[in-house]
Amino acid sequence: MRTLREILEQAEASRVAVGHFNISDLVTLKAVFEAARELNVPVVVGASEGEREFMGVRQVAALVRSLREEYSLPIFLNADHTHSLASAVEAAKAGFDWIVFDLSTLPFEDNIRQTKAAVEALKAINPAILVEGEIGDIGSGSEIHDAAPDLQKGLTSPAEAKQFVEETRVDTLAPAVGNMHGMLKSMVAGDTKKRLEIERIRAIKAEARTFMTLHGASGTDDDDLRKAIAAGITVVHINTELRVAWRRGLHGALTKQPNEIVPYKVLPEAVDSVKQVVAARLALFSRSERARSAPQ
Ligand code: G3H
Ligand code: ZN
Repeated sequence: MRTLREILEQAEASRVAVGHFNISDLVTLKAVFEAARELNVPVVVGASEGEREFMGVRQVAALVRSLREEYSLPIFLNADHTHSLASAVEAAKAGFDWIVFDLSTLPFEDNIRQTKAAVEALKAINPAILVEGEIGDIGSGSEIHDAAPDLQKGLTSPAEAKQFVEETRVDTLAPAVGNMHGMLKSMVAGDTKKRLEIERIRAIKAEARTFMTLHGASGTDDDDLRKAIAAGITVVHINTELRVAWRRGLHGALTKQPNEIVPYKVLPEAVDSVKQVVAARLALFSRSERARSAPQ
């Protein structure tokens, strides 16, 4: 099976993106796994510190590993938004393939210094592990927000991206390019969409020369996502859309079966609801702009 780095290299060369989806339980994991398997594409499962605390760090690692081994599916596990070295080390030792070391709220120089130290410590545990660093401000929380933060203040510049990547030696970079964690109510209703700064993505990619991850992609305009991938985004993170689908699926099943108490009879509707979102996003990410624009 190809390594995660090889998968990113191939995605970058083909101008497609790898989908990253956060999970909190077996329902969301099943949905991500089944969608990726049916579309026959690699996929990354993410678990933030809160999600890991709920599922168990070693337990989620064992689940994902067992799926990868049993089905030969390139499914990988990311320790998403990890805010301390201790928590990153715990995930690396448990067998996570990737760590998002997120000190983006610290002053830039402190973020560089501590991320550089984390890259060294994590590679000493597993030389194949990927480490991502974050700069800029895209807000926090994969939840439904009443108002959007002022994204303009925290946008990433190509020069700071270059400096950050060169000094920290991270494998992947998460920039702020108009993206935002979570969704507004109007986005959940489908009335508004997040928009991305495509030229900024292209300029950052040219300077940083590393894989780039788009965080906070829930509720983003489809066409902007396609353009962002063509401009240099290789990984796209989606969480809130799955959480909305999970709740809708669960609510639908409980409403239809008010007296049912058997979890495995109620939960498939939630799996299906999340799976539809994952499948639609994976289909979009894995369709190359180059292929779309090629003569038929
Ligand atoms: O790391 C997780 C993602 O950035 C999710 O963002 O909830 O807006 O999709 P989202
Ligand atoms: Zn994120």
